[in-house]
Formats: sequence, structure tokens, C-alpha cells
Amino acid sequence: MIESTSPLPWHVLPDNATIGNDGQLMIGGCDTLELAAEFGTPVFVYDEDHLRSRCREAVAAFGRNATYASKAFLCTSMAHLAHDEGMGIDVATGGELHVALAAGVPADAIVFHGNNKSIEELTAGLDVGVGRIVVDSDAELDRIDSLVANGARVPSVLLRVTPGVEAHTHDFISTGQDDSKFGFTVSTGAAARAVERASASRSVNLVGLHAHIGSQVFRAQSFAEALAVLGEFARPYELPELVIGGGLGVAYVEGEEAPTIAQWARILKEAAADAGITATLGIEPGRSIVAAAAITLYTVGTIKALPDIRTYVSVDGGMSDNPRPVLYGSGYEAFLPRSVAAPRPFAARIVGKHCESGDILVREGRLPDDVAVGDILATPVTGAYGHSMGSNYNKVLRPPVVFCSGGDARLVVRRETHDDLLLTDLGWEP
Ligand code: LLP
Repeated sequence: MIESTSPLPWHVLPDNATIGNDGQLMIGGCDTLELAAEFGTPVFVYDEDHLRSRCREAVAAFGRNATYASKAFLCTSMAHLAHDEGMGIDVATGGELHVALAAGVPADAIVFHGNNKSIEELTAGLDVGVGRIVVDSDAELDRIDSLVANGARVPSVLLRVTPGVEAHTHDFISTGQDDSKFGFTVSTGAAARAVERASASRSVNLVGLHAHIGSQVFRAQSFAEALAVLGEFARPYELPELVIGGGLGVAYVEGEEAPTIAQWARILKEAAADAGITATLGIEPGRSIVAAAAITLYTVGTIKALPDIRTYVSVDGGMSDNPRPVLYGSGYEAFLPRSVAAPRPFAARIVGKHCESGDILVREGRLPDDVAVGDILATPVTGAYGHSMGSNYNKVLRPPVVFCSGGDARLVVRRETHDDLLLTDLGWEP
């Protein structure tokens, strides 16, 4: 039974979180209260060494076949860091491709995904020579045919197949089941037809298969089931590569526990061996690399106590920097970095500053009972799918991103300005 007054569970903080002399949270040797003062709030604070250590764990298990799924969190510093640690970079759009290339990631270390790549995106990928294109549909094979007929280079491709496996996660982030927009379905025969077409095609060089069953998956058995289906399906084709996607879950709240990347890798390798898979196995972790590396710092602006109902604590961000609670009902912890180890007896709903009631960051939050207006409040495990899924709703400015290591704080993405909001606006003419 979890004590309702329990302090923040330490395991949801980044690896290099420590307690400072005044009881305050330090990350990567940096005082989080000083970071809030220096960079303002809201701000994403990443433990850079945590990021590096997760990349190393993936590379230790899969070498160059460990590819970072950049949709989880992407800026040039992140792409550079992941590649520097030996990972490839998975991009899912022309935009992600552009940022990865701007980070200096060589094209042949880039894997290009997407269920609806446009001619322009495919052209960009072929022009720079991305290492792999993960082909998702017959329409995409048609588009590559026409580009190669017009002189584009022949890409090395993986075919994305849908193994018909339930990932046991939220419906919106479950992708391996038959009823999916992604990939060629194994059970209908579409996957087999696609392998035949691609093998015979002169406009693609088919090197393997790809499957991704879903995200925030805790149940290792789901990956093993997918590998069993893939092993059987792939056997006759003897293709050299098989990528099992990402999807490893992370612990967001008290009571959750997730396998480490190294444990996940062992499970995958065992399941692949059991399934008789001899192809080189690859992974594409996103969340498990970046989620727990970061916290978001906010400032408390108002506290509204409704006797016998609840207390609302409003902060200066919200669904524009973390839409996950609204989209998936995701849970988060909340705490006060000034006293990170304090008991949290005070029940409150932590909400943002957007103009709708659904703008909730922590539905059932717990805080120290001396929380006050002006306090810095934090939510941990916000390193994945927060910054990357952020928006400008209500013309709220996107927060900056700070990387901390060895006591140094480095601003890697600055805060948006009000003028940035007008960058694409062509102005009003009378
Ligand atoms: N590979 C492919 C082909 C993917 O589609 C994804 C995630 C990944 C790898 C990385 O999965 P990860 O290791 O991060 O679970 N916005 C949702 C998650 C969507 C994931 C989409 N695809 C969320 O906030 O939970």
C-alpha cells in the first residue's frame, strides 16, 4: 500500500539527481531552483549523462543496429548526442530528417519511417542517401518506382509488416494489431505479396523487415509474440535484417517498474533465437532513451481551494508542453524541487494555463502542504513526447531545453518569443 503522504519516489528522477545542501533537487550537478531563475519557467531540464548512458546501453546490446526514435525528443543537440554515442537516427517525416541532417548526422545513419511519405519527403531521403527507407505501403513502392525511373538512386529498404499482435498499451499508441494504418499485414497475405514485389523490383534493394508493435509496453511477452510471428513469416525469404521497433515502457509514477534497456535486449534476443531468427536484429527505442532523463520546471501561479471538492494548483505551462495526460490519460508525479524528499500529504490537481478544463498535467497530484504561489513545481519523466508534441495553443510560447552535466547547464533550445509567433504570419493588409 502506497503511503498517501509519501515523498517523490526517487526512481522517477534522472540518474544524476542528488539532493543539495538546502534539500533542493540537483540535476547533473546543477541546482534546479537556480536553473528556473536563470532560464525562466516552464523549462525542460535534461540530465545529459543519463541520455548518454541509455544510448550506450542500447549500443552495447545492438551496436549500429540501435537506432534512436527521434520523434520522442528531437533537437540538433539530441540527434548529435545519440549519433555520437553510436546510434542511428530514426526519422518519420521530412521535418525530422531536416533536423537530423542539420545536426550533422550522416545520411547513411538515418532510417526513414512514415506511413504516408510524400514524393517530396522520399525525394529528400533519396537525394541525401538515407541508410534505410522503411516502406509502409504499395503506394510508397509506386512512388519509389517513379522516382528511380526518373534517376533517383535505388534505396536499401525494409518493409514494415504488421504482425497481428496486441501490445497491451493505450489504443492510440498500439500499432502491431491487424486493425492498423501501419504497414503490410501478415495475416491477410499483404506482407507476403509486398516481399515478392520488393524482391523482384529493380527500384528497391530489399534488405529486411520491420515491425513496431506499440509504445509504453511493459509486457515483454508482447515482443516475444511479435518475434515468433515475424520469425515464421520471414523464414522463407532469408533476409539479412529484422528491426523490432521501439516501445519499451518506462515508469512514470509510484508503483510502476519497467525493464531496463539491457533486460529488454536480452528478452528480444532470446525470443528471436527461440523463433529461429538468424537475421541481424535491430531496435528503435525512443521513450526509454529520453523519458526519465528530464523533468519540467514550472512556477505555481494560483491556488484555488474548493472546500469538499478539490484544490487546483495552476502552473505556467500545461497541455502545450505536455499533452500526454489529455491525450492518453497519462499519469505523472509532482513535487517541489526546493524540498524534493519532503512528504507530500497535500492532494491537488495540477493544471495549466490554457483556456479549457481538460488542461490537466497531474490529475491526482500530491505535494508538500506548504506549497505556495511562486513555488517552483516539477513533474518528472517528461523527456519523451513532451517537447516533441508541444504546441502553441493559446499562443503560449514553447519552453526552452537545458542539458545539464557535471555542474554545467547548456541551453540547447531557447524559449520561443512573441515575435516567433509571427514568423509564418504574412500580416494583415487593409
Ligand atoms: N519505431 C517506430 C516505427 C515508432 O513508430 C515508434 C513510436 C518508435 C520506434 C519509438 O517508440 P518508443 O520507444 O518511444 O515507445 N506519443 C505517444 C507515443 C507514440 C509513439 C509512436 N511511435 C506517447 O506520448 O506515449
